[in-house]
Amino acid sequence: MEERIVSSETENTEEQSFEQTLRPKLLETYIGQDQVKNNLAVFIEAARNRQETLDHVLLYGPPGLGKTTLAAVIANEMGVNLRTTSGPAIERPGDLAAILSALEPGDVLFIDEIHRLPRAIEEVLYPAMEDFCLDIVIGTGPSARSVRLDLPPFTLVGATTRAGAISAPLRDRFGVLCRLEYYEEHHLVEIVHRTAQIFKTDIDEQGALEIAKRSRGTPRIANRLLRRVRDFAQVRAEGAITYPIAQESLELLQVDRLGLDHIDHKLLTGIIERFRGGPVGLDTIAASIGEESSTIEDVYEPYLLQIGFLQRTPRGRVVTHLVYEHFQLEVPK
Ligand code: ADE
Repeated sequence: MEERIVSSETENTEEQSFEQTLRPKLLETYIGQDQVKNNLAVFIEAARNRQETLDHVLLYGPPGLGKTTLAAVIANEMGVNLRTTSGPAIERPGDLAAILSALEPGDVLFIDEIHRLPRAIEEVLYPAMEDFCLDIVIGTGPSARSVRLDLPPFTLVGATTRAGAISAPLRDRFGVLCRLEYYEEHHLVEIVHRTAQIFKTDIDEQGALEIAKRSRGTPRIANRLLRRVRDFAQVRAEGAITYPIAQESLELLQVDRLGLDHIDHKLLTGIIERFRGGPVGLDTIAASIGEESSTIEDVYEPYLLQIGFLQRTPRGRVVTHLVYEHFQLEVPK
């Protein structure tokens, strides 16, 4: 199948422009997330055969696992345009009405961080998702009246790192719910090889494995580490990425053998040194290390919970014995 070029309104940082060129455009070339991929393949094929739009899809899970990529893959596989926006970018109901009324039949509208849509704007989405129409209020006071505008049928793909923060009425309007999981090591190895090939960089199996091991189950991190290791390989060696080069550059990047970086270290050792291992509240931890609570909750904590380094209790966060072992610290009596 031909790969369609996908438009995106997101600004282009170095990472984003790299990411856009790296992104797989078809389910077949998307590595990992097998369950999500297999289910989506069925729903896409069924919708295509019936010549209908795909039902609305909610993608949720930690950052960097490929939610935006999947939205683009869905649009591409359905053979329609992708329109991209995000919860915080939509400030007024009219902003959303403008986006919706500019859609073409069948388009995919991707709303990233959909949990950050204000409630008043969510309410514009309900009739749009359910009946493909907009209820617009014209005028004010006693002469105000509501008119209904038809919209073309479309597929909303919503993405969030916090499924729990989405209101029940919004969540209930998605026909397909997909939870993205951290990637298995062998899938990350495949992704590293694929990206290295796009970069025309030589990399051996052990070099790719070392990058995969330190990527916290996250392709975005794997690709970022690969770019940095490639820099070291180019400047300090002959250009090819081998195990010693990968290992040495990742040490220099302060990414440890589990993929924990200096912020994870600060977070975990901070809980041990200042709060005797916890329990301690999220806001207290955040203030003590100078990070935003939301960054800790959305970016750092999910992986630490996943590998059993951190636990959430009703009284706050607690580090586990694994952290003491990892940092070779004595467990307090
Ligand atoms: N690059 C980043 N994520 C990817 C994935 N899941 N499959 C293929 N290439 C990727």
